[in-house]
Amino acid sequence: MIQTSKEDFFIKIITAQETHAVRHPVLRSGRPIEDCIFDKDELDTTFHLGLFHKNKLSGVVTYLKNGSPLLSNTSQYQLRGMAVLEDLQGHNLGTALTKHGETILRNLKADAVWCNAREIAVPFYKKNGFEIIGEPFHIPKIGLHFTMYKLL
Ligand SMILES: CC(C)(COP(=O)(O)OP(=O)(O)OC[C@H]1O[C@@H](n2cnc3c(N)ncnc32)[C@H](O)[C@@H]1OP(=O)(O)O)[C@@H](O)C(=O)NCCC(=O)NCCS
Repeated sequence: MIQTSKEDFFIKIITAQETHAVRHPVLRSGRPIEDCIFDKDELDTTFHLGLFHKNKLSGVVTYLKNGSPLLSNTSQYQLRGMAVLEDLQGHNLGTALTKHGETILRNLKADAVWCNAREIAVPFYKKNGFEIIGEPFHIPKIGLHFTMYKLL
């Protein structure tokens, strides 16, 4: 069992390209590396966070300025590509990433964050204060998803 403590990791802004090292094994395993390039990754209003565990990039998350048709808040960001390397999952690193992201979003005066959550990740987002909104839907090659949101 891997032990993690706060001294073992830090979080900083990274490039879209850097996210691929974690997106690929966790979110696009067995698929071409090009599948790790997400729409709007390179926009000036998009930012990417990397969590470095013992100086190795081990977790990533992306936030883009994008409104959901299900929400009416004025400044919304979409959370995308949330992933922690498999051997480090379940150690609160994903939670640390979302907390850090929400601090940045509040500084940007955002009032809501939302995501399309894989069914398996719904408990993780609920634990982090997100709620389901609307009906579940299917994303080809990935599976059943739920839109979830959190007011900031
Ligand atoms: C979902 C994910 C980002 C959560 O990060 P994490 O560091 O493992 O999560 P934390 O340790 O901060 O939070 C733990 C909670 O996440 C959930 N969780 C833990 N391991 C998980 C896993 N392998 N897959 C999904 N959810 C998991 C549980 O609800 C857990 O709560 P519990 O400890 O009370 O049971 C990470 O597990 C992951 O990368 N999973 C695979 C990729 C994925 O599904 N990404 C989300 C796409 S929408």
